[in-house]
Amino acid sequence: MSRHCASPEATEAAGEEFARLLEPGDVVLLSGPLGAGKTTFVKGVARGLGVRERVTSPTFTVVREHHADGARGIRTLLHADVYRLGSLDEVVDLALGELVEEGAVALVEWGEVAAAVFGEDVITLEITPEDDARTLRVGGAAARDRAGLAAWR
Ligand SMILES: Nc1ncnc2c1ncn2[C@@H]1O[C@H](COP(=O)(O)OP(=O)(O)OP(=O)(O)O)[C@@H](O)[C@H]1O
Ligand SMILES: [Mg+2]
Repeated sequence: MSRHCASPEATEAAGEEFARLLEPGDVVLLSGPLGAGKTTFVKGVARGLGVRERVTSPTFTVVREHHADGARGIRTLLHADVYRLGSLDEVVDLALGELVEEGAVALVEWGEVAAAVFGEDVITLEITPEDDARTLRVGGAAARDRAGLAAWR
């Protein structure tokens, strides 16, 4: 399941439309090299979830919590970046898995590094850059049979 995005705006729009597929409890692991567009995608997701605050890279804070407008029961967007964490224990300590159970979704940049912490029941979003274009590829057990995903591509 993949989608081609020719500009940062297209990647953000892909995120905004992707937000419609999300359900409370979802964990989305974002992967792709430095500057791939992970944060850009999350900005779009935030817009789609009705987050009013500005979304910036959580590199130094590790996790930012944004209030969402509650569409489809999603009240909180947890935006994490685990790039700087030194060990999987530190990712475990973030307790994202438990936090999403309370009406939240979690989007985790560099999530593939910590995939073992989150188990199988996740959505993966892999971004492959090529010049100014990006290919977004969705996978993971939680994405299987997700209504609307076919239309998102
Ligand atoms: N098609 C595109 N989609 C997304 N970003 C693009 C695209 N083309 C160019 N860019 C540029 O790539 C950069 C993506 O930055 P962004 O912070 O979203 O990446 P990131 O994957 O979060 O990086 P990091 O690994 O540092 O967290 C921006 O400067 C953006 O303008
Ligand atoms: Mg980023």
